[in-house]
Amino acid sequence: MYKQTTWEKLLIFEQSTPGRMGYQLDELNEKEKSFIEKAKLRISPEMLREEPLNLPELSELDVIRHFTRLSQMNYGVDGGFYPLGSCTMKYNPKICDLVTTYPKAQNIHPYQSADTVQGSLQIMYELAHWLVELSGMSKVTLQPAAGAHGEYTGIMIIRQYHGSKGNLGLKQEIIVPDSAHGTNPATASMCGFKTVVIPSHEDGCIDLEAMRTAVSEKTAGIMLTNPNTLGIFEQNIEEMIKIIHEVDGLAYYDGANFNAIMGKARPGDMGFDIVHYNLHKTFATPHGGGGPGSGPVGVIKKLEPFLPIPTIDFNVENDEYFFQYNHPKTIGKVRSYFGNFSIVLRAYTYILRLGREGLKAVSEMAVLNANYMMSKTQLIRGFFVPYCGSSFCMHEFVLSAKPLTKDTNLSALDVSKYLLDRGVHPPTIYFPLIVPEALMIEPTETEAKKTLDQFIEILADVSNLAYSGQTQSITDAPQNTSVRRIDDVKAARKPIISYRMLEQQKSESK
Ligand SMILES: Cc1ncc(COP(=O)(O)O)c(C=O)c1O
Repeated sequence: MYKQTTWEKLLIFEQSTPGRMGYQLDELNEKEKSFIEKAKLRISPEMLREEPLNLPELSELDVIRHFTRLSQMNYGVDGGFYPLGSCTMKYNPKICDLVTTYPKAQNIHPYQSADTVQGSLQIMYELAHWLVELSGMSKVTLQPAAGAHGEYTGIMIIRQYHGSKGNLGLKQEIIVPDSAHGTNPATASMCGFKTVVIPSHEDGCIDLEAMRTAVSEKTAGIMLTNPNTLGIFEQNIEEMIKIIHEVDGLAYYDGANFNAIMGKARPGDMGFDIVHYNLHKTFATPHGGGGPGSGPVGVIKKLEPFLPIPTIDFNVENDEYFFQYNHPKTIGKVRSYFGNFSIVLRAYTYILRLGREGLKAVSEMAVLNANYMMSKTQLIRGFFVPYCGSSFCMHEFVLSAKPLTKDTNLSALDVSKYLLDRGVHPPTIYFPLIVPEALMIEPTETEAKKTLDQFIEILADVSNLAYSGQTQSITDAPQNTSVRRIDDVKAARKPIISYRMLEQQKSESK
């Protein structure tokens, strides 16, 4: 029986005792005091704080215990199965973390001159080169800090491409399928385009005829996720790209699901012009909470001039890595400095350790595990796979609990809460939107068959309980977690995520 730790939930501010401290700094000497006074003169008065900061006062032990308890109330992939579809919550080898702790990786500064950080530049250059190899693109920037940020970079490149031809007034639309990750239409809008949504065909792929009708001279490009969020390798890719290229549109490949195709298929060979990768999902960093991440972007030759500056290049004559600012039509910088180096280092280590055959094996295993689970779970009463159930999926699949809901009134949300009580993190639910009562399952390549079987067994238990009328343990779930069932809508609409917000809420409710 799974039981998560529960602790008295005193916030760190509420544990504060005046005068208690964990670390004492030496008194300032006269020179230091005068330095601070002089520094203050350089700061405009309205920015100077008069009142001391309201920080909690605790001993080192208090702090350690507090955060250790919090970590025990948490659920992570190092503790158990985490089949969160689209998020690739796989086990990340500890060696990748280890390398980031090496002093040579930690004690460098982005302002150092290129000749003092040749090793780091080499790592960035080589990683970019491997991403070029894996995707069939021509050049890669490592700057973007997340997948969505990579999308932003890619779509800004599309914008700049049409702008450079004087066509921006005409090219106003980006095509996005209805199964796309929410960041795709959001990115297109943020970059000033109108999103044209294309419905999925009953086979789960883009409806080619609908797309043909939607494409016009106004089309600036298409954003395509492959494998798509239903876990299906898109059909008719070459035809789609031909249609887009015929109107001088560009084809963008959302490569967030790259872990399904490594060493097997390359977006460049399919005809795509731009691709982003999620280093944090595919290559050994957990994906969570918007960071830390890295979303490099690769482009074909004709788009190289538009890349963010600087890229990292190698001068063969001097045998030297250097920052390349010569991208005449650059979209500018998209991030401070040169990229999220600690994530770059993890991805570099991951690829180096696995090598060409290892990466292929990763993708094969990710796809095998997903197919094993799909074939078993769709046989469980109350569930079915609306798309691709009769053929093969890629690294994930979307199970629907619609029959269960119809027969027993239990929803995908109830199922996911019950999974928590059994010690499993639930899959992504209610996404993609085109599947009713969706449970989007991505087992990943790092899980053993035994773990997959346990999950399948739990789902079968849900079904047995539901159809025998014993639903209370499901509707009351979760009972065994440190936080019980929360009000999801309130949590999303009125989140209280800082002590200041909590104090404000308390004073308002008085
Ligand atoms: C298909 C797809 N596109 C884009 C993203 C966005 O990536 P990020 O969360 O790093 O911004 C994700 C995230 O999982 C994704 O699954």
